Amino acid sequence: MTTLERAEAAEHALSQELDRLVIVKSVIYSSGESDPRVPMKRPPSAGKRFLMGHDPRLPRMPERPTLIDFFRYRFAPANHLLQSARLAQKNGMSEKVVMACLVHDIAIAGFIRGDHGYWAAQLVEPYVDPEVAWAIRYHQALRFFPDESVGYRYPELYSTLFGPDYSPEPYIHRAHEYARRHAWYMTARLLTVNDLYAFDPGVQVELDEFTDVIGRNFRQPDEGLGLDDSPSAHMWRTIMWPTRYL
Ligand SMILES: [Fe+2]
Ligand SMILES: [Fe+2]
Repeated sequence: MTTLERAEAAEHALSQELDRLVIVKSVIYSSGESDPRVPMKRPPSAGKRFLMGHDPRLPRMPERPTLIDFFRYRFAPANHLLQSARLAQKNGMSEKVVMACLVHDIAIAGFIRGDHGYWAAQLVEPYVDPEVAWAIRYHQALRFFPDESVGYRYPELYSTLFGPDYSPEPYIHRAHEYARRHAWYMTARLLTVNDLYAFDPGVQVELDEFTDVIGRNFRQPDEGLGLDDSPSAHMWRTIMWPTRYL
């Protein structure tokens, strides 16, 4: 078989598999685009099975996935994360800050945008130093507040994205007040300093550069990330199998 024939055969097999499956999106994926109070339209399901595992439209994850596998198969391209981590390294930051930079926006990259700092912190909490998870949780709030002592200004990008008069919700103000009095404040603050506003499409950073940092700072579960029994394992499973019926 030629490469083209192989590609066509694979595509044919995929469409046949999809014909036999019903894939239903979770409400949160379309809430807003459609009213969550209105029952969702169901695709025809006669003679079909509801998807309960791997979604054939997605790259298959290894049996015991690692953080690096999630980067490869679910978060890519993760340029913003990789470039921020490299910048932190170049600026001589501690490994905790580098590690925090590397995963600080994984919620945006592969899960849920709103409250992304909280989601990302929760995802990694069982596997990293508590200070790393803490910094990730609070970077979301700290991004909105300047700190002259480290030359951090309110991002111009935020004025463009949210308008010049945008002010975050009261809970974000409270989080900032709490964080700036905390012993780990500077770790979260340095994360925001190295959190690039815009990634440079010309700079390609390879994940391999951070294999050692991940090895030293992320406790990879033997069973595979998501297949262990940690408090956030279910969230990793949702990223791996985002369209399972139950
Ligand atoms: Fe962020
Ligand atoms: Fe970021």
